[in-house]
Amino acid sequence: MKHLLSASDLTRDDALLILDTAAELATVTDRSVKKLPTLRGRTVVNLFFEDSTRTRISFEVAAKRLSADVINFAAKGSSVSKGESLKDTALTLEAMGADAVVIRHSASGAPHRLAHSDWIQGAVINAGDGTHEHPTQALLDAFTLRQHLRGGAGDLAGLRVAIVGDVLHSRVARSNVTLLRTLGAEVTLVAPPTLMPYGVDGWPCSTSFDIDDVLPSVDAVMMLRVQAERMQAAYFPSAHEYSRRYGIDAARMAVLPEHAIVLHPGPMNRGMEISADVADSPRAVMVEQVANGVSVRMSVLYLLLGGMPDEA
Ligand code: NCD
Repeated sequence: MKHLLSASDLTRDDALLILDTAAELATVTDRSVKKLPTLRGRTVVNLFFEDSTRTRISFEVAAKRLSADVINFAAKGSSVSKGESLKDTALTLEAMGADAVVIRHSASGAPHRLAHSDWIQGAVINAGDGTHEHPTQALLDAFTLRQHLRGGAGDLAGLRVAIVGDVLHSRVARSNVTLLRTLGAEVTLVAPPTLMPYGVDGWPCSTSFDIDDVLPSVDAVMMLRVQAERMQAAYFPSAHEYSRRYGIDAARMAVLPEHAIVLHPGPMNRGMEISADVADSPRAVMVEQVANGVSVRMSVLYLLLGGMPDEA
């Protein structure tokens, strides 16, 4: 495998190799000297056309822990969107000797365009493209679920996960449905009808419009941010009504099974999809998700730049 563009690029064995390698690399973070020489002399470019806190910093930290040189390119405010302009940017990065390009773009498919061009020779990693995919987020979520609910090893066979909220605009949901299924979990998407994607019937998961129906029987619930920046219409009457029908609060958390955990990819809208007391509760694992994100991205960079077996 040369690029990581979609969760569907990963077989079960590929995904397990990434998670197992991430678990080994996580031990680096616990050392006083948090660095391995593995990618010394290699250059990783963070090409971010869309806002990001966690993901950009996470890739930067991951690359630096492996001793790669990191260049951060933020295209905020630039008129670059697709086609020629992306090509020119890519050619420039290629001329500077990028071994890997981590790209986030508001256009679904931009990372694929880059990977399937002859503009750059290096590995392309999708750090979120439009409403399409965000495979490293799905990997860090799987890592976190595995640690909490499967003792940190093996796959996620039989695990029941609800993904709740603005599924329509969520690349996190799309990548998670695919990867969680690959790892054997059973996913239920919960959203208001207006935020349930067309064609969801063909996805490898079940769906529900009623969060209260679903919560009592899941091992984990993943709350999605209401992505107002991607909404060109009114999808629900008011923020208050949304949070009453689809948000998680202490009362809803109380009906989750005792062992169940709450995830959120961040950034959170506190008071909207998640109440502050749930966000701050010990059963909410957002801070761990961030830490695990570094390990998983180290693993992806390590395997892609170091050579991942084609047939695992
Ligand atoms: C997600 C994203 O950008 O898709 N955030 C993230 O990467 N941590 C989810 C979101 O923005 O809601």
